[in-house]
Amino acid sequence: MEYPESTRPFGRRRCYLNEENLVAIVDRNFKSFSQLEGSQFIASKSSQLNLAELLVSVNPKNILDWGSGIGTLIPIYLRLTEAQVVAYERNSWCRSSFYRNIGCEPRVELCESPPIHRSQNFITIDDKIRICEVKPLIQNSEGDLVIFIEGWRNTTFARISFLILLLRRSAKAVRLSSRLGEFGDNLTLEAAGCYLLIKNSSLKASLSSWCGRTSETQEFLEFLKYLARVTRIYRILGKARLGTRVRSLLGLKTRHREKAWLRMMTEKSNSERK
Ligand SMILES: C[S@@+](CC[C@H](N)C(=O)[O-])C[C@H]1O[C@@H](n2cnc3c(N)ncnc32)[C@H](O)[C@@H]1O
Repeated sequence: MEYPESTRPFGRRRCYLNEENLVAIVDRNFKSFSQLEGSQFIASKSSQLNLAELLVSVNPKNILDWGSGIGTLIPIYLRLTEAQVVAYERNSWCRSSFYRNIGCEPRVELCESPPIHRSQNFITIDDKIRICEVKPLIQNSEGDLVIFIEGWRNTTFARISFLILLLRRSAKAVRLSSRLGEFGDNLTLEAAGCYLLIKNSSLKASLSSWCGRTSETQEFLEFLKYLARVTRIYRILGKARLGTRVRSLLGLKTRHREKAWLRMMTEKSNSERK
């Protein structure tokens, strides 16, 4: 179904932009999408503004929108760039809302399976993504690649940063800040996103750029959290196994079986006596 022209978040015309109207564009987009059904998980205003600024400065030719939801970020891509947009959404309800909200746009292709073998130079991640899905996306990129990560996805940020090291690329990592004040809202914190600017490089450059960005990506902290999670799971599993072992050592299982056998025998002899 087509989204009526008058109610589309933006017209189709691209305008010359400055800082001030980026805020206005994002504000309008956020307001129009937050009124739509299923809008509870849309990208925050701060993330949208940070993304918009990044798009204007990078001017990508190919964009992958991973976790498009109901299509909130699509009008921003269309308005601020000339790029071809590949959108990926795994949820079928969201996909039908996407079609309803965005309509037929020649520059937009919506996929229901992960388009991991495409070549992109700008990727927005706003849903779960596995490292084995990120790897081909980085490997297939020709030249520089920007990965913008929406929301509070610290683990994804840290994992991708480490993967970049393993793939011998260098990258700059930036954690973005909340921009609510610029919309005239009460000053509160909200998810603002972060990004990685990835370049092909030598092993030495890749290693030194990784050392330089670990404080921004908090990779060591994320690794410790991961270890804590894994050891806790093992402890729980260990306790469960230990419990069974202790019970069998104390003969609790046998005693239980013996009791059942005795009960059965008494019932049998009682019935014979009758
Ligand atoms: C944070 S949301 C993505 C939001 C999207 N980038 C946007 O700004 O509209 C992450 C994932 O949650 C799921 N999701 C989002 N909205 C949903 C809804 N209303 N009902 C069910 N799933 C939803 C989709 O699979 C989506 O890819």
